[in-house]
Amino acid sequence: MVRLKTREHASLSSFIQGNFKQSLGKRIDSLNINNTFENTITKRRDQARRSILVQVYSLNSQDDLQSYCIQFGDVLSMHHYQKNKQHNYILVEFKDIVSVNKIISSASFMDGDFVAPVKSSVFWFRKGKFVCHKRNSEKKIFLSTENGCICPTEKEIANFLQNAKSISGQIIDLYEALKLNDLETRLRFHTAYHLEQYFSRLFQNTKVLPFGSSLNGFGRKRCDLDLVLLPDNIEENNAASRLVFHTKPMKLSERHETREFMEILASTMQHFIPGVCNVRKILEARVPIIKFLYEYTNIECDLSTTNMAAVYMCELLYLYGEIDWRVRPLVTAIRKWAKNQEITSDVPGPWITNFSLSLLVLFYLQQKNILPSLRVLKTYATSDDIRCTENGIDCTFLRNLEKLPPEYKYKSNQDNLESLLHGFFDYISTFDFHTKGICIREGVPIRKPSRSALHITNPLETTLNVCKNVNIYELNRITEKAHDAIYILETTDNSRNSNWGLAALLNMKNIDIMNMIKLNNKKEENTTNSLEEIHEISEVNEVDINQPKK
Ligand code: CTP
Ligand code: MG
Repeated sequence: MVRLKTREHASLSSFIQGNFKQSLGKRIDSLNINNTFENTITKRRDQARRSILVQVYSLNSQDDLQSYCIQFGDVLSMHHYQKNKQHNYILVEFKDIVSVNKIISSASFMDGDFVAPVKSSVFWFRKGKFVCHKRNSEKKIFLSTENGCICPTEKEIANFLQNAKSISGQIIDLYEALKLNDLETRLRFHTAYHLEQYFSRLFQNTKVLPFGSSLNGFGRKRCDLDLVLLPDNIEENNAASRLVFHTKPMKLSERHETREFMEILASTMQHFIPGVCNVRKILEARVPIIKFLYEYTNIECDLSTTNMAAVYMCELLYLYGEIDWRVRPLVTAIRKWAKNQEITSDVPGPWITNFSLSLLVLFYLQQKNILPSLRVLKTYATSDDIRCTENGIDCTFLRNLEKLPPEYKYKSNQDNLESLLHGFFDYISTFDFHTKGICIREGVPIRKPSRSALHITNPLETTLNVCKNVNIYELNRITEKAHDAIYILETTDNSRNSNWGLAALLNMKNIDIMNMIKLNNKKEENTTNSLEEIHEISEVNEVDINQPKK
């Protein structure tokens, strides 16, 4: 009575059998489960291992699927989502991984088609040849349908922002509407685990971890998923064995070897891993990546290898978000403003990235004595916090925030979100980017150590500038837009306009600003001053039009 059909196509297990762990793993720390961030990863990875993703005909299949699944063990939760408003999926979480193993070995392959026969935890649920009778004792599992993969439209955002009571309230509402919910997080870990199932057939002790905005608390619905392929340091104590595997040498510390390795991974992913499509290789970058679309969730993914510094960076950003409740809503609002103003873009180019912009916001919060410098976090680090990457970058900093001295935990600065948003725009529109650089590590502006237009020191690798790509034109656009934002925050008010506060900031286009200036000036009968302002803004407008489109 096999009703689940596996969606996997092929195995490459005999393709390459190198000792991946030996060549890479020795110098990378395994994740220690005593800390919150690491705990979250451990918990979510475990959840992903205990879960299967099943494509069903419709929501009505839930009861049938539940009855089918409980034959293999206790089911803890079921989550439904729709892809492109037509394909229905249910993510089923079992209590025990043994149930998942049983269900995988019981499933069959598609009749008739030629497929590469490799099993995974993604299935079709075919129409029932075998009816599963519901047992009387069977409790119906609540089917969670939390719109996991649906992002609110700009119109919906504008509507709920309009009804908020204050700008601070708008920032919190925006954060709540955009942040990743439980199902999105589960699906991101599921995607990582799905790849891990394949790669671990090629290489012993391999794991795939999500990182970046999916995990650092700054992610929004439908944001890209950053993944990293890492050796898992479960030491096998086989020292007593006299038999040692024959293996091939693999030096992933050498750039060209990494590229060759990723070329192979990319082709195997494209050809053999179901759900992975539209694979693109970007192997010349400082950190080579494989881009692909994971079609079961419709999420764009970036896979890198042995990039532990980026994972520790993710942990650092996560910690900053944990230190003060205002950090994540503020970063979300500023990232959204930047996206709507085309300050950031999904396409790489000479503009600031979301990651660098987030560092800029964290730096501003350090100036407001809301966040400590990285130096402080390093000073209070304990022996449990020592971490070093595969190429020797020291990523030691305090992970247990309980151990932060009280002056960093209980802050005198109690500014509300509105005032911080305003303060951020004010800070960056007047900052001397020409001579100064931003340094999270020191928590104060530094003398600019490079000729780049914008210098934001990489907190973990201080010789690097994360904004090396940003040109002077883009920097000027940021400061000008920040200036416009201040104007909007100071001149719109909810009694006059439905498009007020944060809603006005998100919608603001130069043309709108001109209209608003006219409107306000009419109201205030102060035309002389405003004409100059209109002129200034229309100049900015002209330059905008001539710039390449992002
Ligand atoms: N990263 C880094 N150094 C950089 C760029 C990125 O360490 N110069 C790490 C950070 O941990 C970052 C992650 O790689 O969060 C992913 O980078 P990216 O996808 O560019 O940023 P996100 O924070 O994920 O933002 P987005 O939502 O735009 O993807
Ligand atoms: Mg990302």
